[in-house]
Amino acid sequence: MVAETTLAPEQLVLPLFVREGASESRPISSMPGVVQHTRDSLLKAAHEAAELGLGGVVLFGIPEHKDAQGSGAVDPSGVLNLAITDVVAEVGDALTVVSDLCLDEFTDHGHCGVLTPDGRVDNDRTLQVYAEMALAQADAGIDMVGPSGMMDGQVAAIRGALDGAGHADVAILAYSAKYASAFFGPFREAVDSSLQGDRRTYQQDPANAREGVREALLDVAEGADIVMVKPALGYLDVVRRVREAVDVPVAAYNVSGEYSMVEAAAANGWIDRERAIFEVLTSIRRAGADVVLTYWAAEVARLLTR
Ligand code: PBG
Repeated sequence: MVAETTLAPEQLVLPLFVREGASESRPISSMPGVVQHTRDSLLKAAHEAAELGLGGVVLFGIPEHKDAQGSGAVDPSGVLNLAITDVVAEVGDALTVVSDLCLDEFTDHGHCGVLTPDGRVDNDRTLQVYAEMALAQADAGIDMVGPSGMMDGQVAAIRGALDGAGHADVAILAYSAKYASAFFGPFREAVDSSLQGDRRTYQQDPANAREGVREALLDVAEGADIVMVKPALGYLDVVRRVREAVDVPVAAYNVSGEYSMVEAAAANGWIDRERAIFEVLTSIRRAGADVVLTYWAAEVARLLTR
């Protein structure tokens, strides 16, 4: 009767991975219960997400071939663009289909952008590629793009490209305050990342909360429809501060490392798995997140409606 915070399926968004050329789904060893899908098993998972009443799914593609430019990302027959068309056709009327809009899964160096000759991430040339990627995803039928690369000006570049090509209806879920985090570790296995080194020249310093709020305000000014804080658990203060600073919905990403820590502890019998999952997600909601991206979305929806 007096609970201040609710958890409901429509507040949850499920990240899904699809692997090019896969003939059966492959487990991700550092994320027990999460798989790299085939084109077919992806559709089954998306269909289930819709049946369970989830708010949305976010699609990540794992290409067979990578190159320095990440060209699979802008190729209309690239794995992610084909998956977008499949999933939107299957469940597009029932939930929001979001695409990852970033180059790291497609580049052989594993960075989120293209590089200069001396090996630095080239922010402004990357914006041009993101604009092209947004158009490829829009042509494939996407509802909402999720730029996760943390290039400066990415929301404005993508909004401009979409509007200029008649895709004013495609929304933007902006990864606004995305911190250079060790908690993305298991995700690197999930997408077969080739990254050497780290992303500290473009992701945020975990020491900075004010800067996270500033990044969110910039994204709203550039046209973001939803702003996101990522990771979630170590950054609940940032979630709260962003919630108070903006008037668009706020999302938080309960990332791979947060998932795997609970799964590993539970597998050892050290914590009560279900209670821990509900406590984690309720805490993220209590901090002010309207929407939570979580690998537990389908399971929690099932438990909520049983
Ligand atoms: C980049 C991207 C990452 C995640 C989502 N999008 C990895 C990174 O920035 O290194 C991490 C998600 C997770 O850890 O669950 N495209």
